[in-house]
Amino acid sequence: MGKILVTGGAGFIGSHTCVEFLERGYEVVVLDNLSNSKEESIRRIEQITGKHVKFYRADMRDAAAVRAIFKAHPIDAVVHFAGLKAVGESVEKPLAYYENNLNGTFVLLNAMHEAGCKRIVFSSSATVYGMHNPVPYVENMPTSATNPYGYTKVMIEQMLQDICHAQPDFSAVALRYFNPIGAHKSGLIGEDPNGIPNNLLPYIGQVAVGKLQQLSVFGDDYDTPDGTGVRDYIHVVDLAKGHVCAIAYAMAHEGFMPINLGTGNGVSVLEMVHAYEKACGHAISYRIAPRRAGDIATSYADASRAKELLGWEAQETLETMCEDSWRFMQQNPNGL
Ligand code: NAD
Ligand code: UD1
Repeated sequence: MGKILVTGGAGFIGSHTCVEFLERGYEVVVLDNLSNSKEESIRRIEQITGKHVKFYRADMRDAAAVRAIFKAHPIDAVVHFAGLKAVGESVEKPLAYYENNLNGTFVLLNAMHEAGCKRIVFSSSATVYGMHNPVPYVENMPTSATNPYGYTKVMIEQMLQDICHAQPDFSAVALRYFNPIGAHKSGLIGEDPNGIPNNLLPYIGQVAVGKLQQLSVFGDDYDTPDGTGVRDYIHVVDLAKGHVCAIAYAMAHEGFMPINLGTGNGVSVLEMVHAYEKACGHAISYRIAPRRAGDIATSYADASRAKELLGWEAQETLETMCEDSWRFMQQNPNGL
């Protein structure tokens, strides 16, 4: 089937994506420095699939290490997840974000060039739609950012576009993820953030399991049906499957292609709380708090390009997203 280098493959989305590739007969090589993940997730990928993962604990900014991987393996394509992703931290430490995400991608792209590898699928984000586009977000809308993390996504998309322009046989798919949640059905892999979670689902999960006391709902005066923020939550296994389709597309097409991976449906914070309560069987304590700086009222995808070009559509429901997240939380109350 082919050999795929997965950068950041020990992380939340990367680990689920490794499972989907391995189950379809691809060989997977993972590069991860474990700055935001644990080696245990590699063992669990192997446990789920019964397949071997070649794991390199290395930093993608280490040119010699990345080059050595391309020397040791005939890599057909790269799926590039590795990066720092905490928005608030990126505002505090902009250089660390530019250095890791941009420099790391630069080293990776150089190594690909030297090795003659011309296919990449990149983890972009709905954050590139910025604050001023109307929903639903369509791929041809202008991109922008409001924080250094978001700018790294905008800039890496630009780098990929420029490479495709200069090198017409190069192929780059930028997958713009909406809000990935949930976990693998086995309960063996899922989201395991360091410290207190910034994002809604891991926060709710930790309240549900008793690790945190109460959820703060950031604002109930938005222009949305119940006043709380609306997002397009997508099951991480659906998202992972989207990468298998994107690699097939990148193998068959040249050029730069941004593609949304979302469901096309908006869910409010309170709807999510109630869906999670149903999954875990008890109430989730919450209070209404002030708006969080930088948040927008509503974000959801126009998911038609993914269907048209990749033949991909989200299959899971809000119910299964919450059930799978809850199973992972119960089986791993202290993370991996
Ligand atoms: P994650 O932190 O779980 O995974 C990222 C992985 O990259 C981690 O395992 C980390 O150790 C590794 N890494 C970071 N810097 C590295 C470096 N210099 N060298 C080697 N490895 C390095 O995050 P995730 O949620 O799985 O996100 C994966 C990608 O998807 C990221 O690029 C993120 O920005 C993007 N994304 C995530 C979301 C989301 O909500 N989770 C949304 C949109 C986009
Ligand atoms: C996050 C990222 C953003 C990325 C997007 C899609 C942050 C700050 N932003 O934003 O860069 O593009 O995912 O992947 O991480 N909420 C609460 N209480 C909480 C946490 C969140 O009420 O404790 C609300 C938020 O106000 C929002 C919704 O829940 O309305 C979702 O929040 P979150 O999970 O952080 O995702 P995004 O805001 O979409």
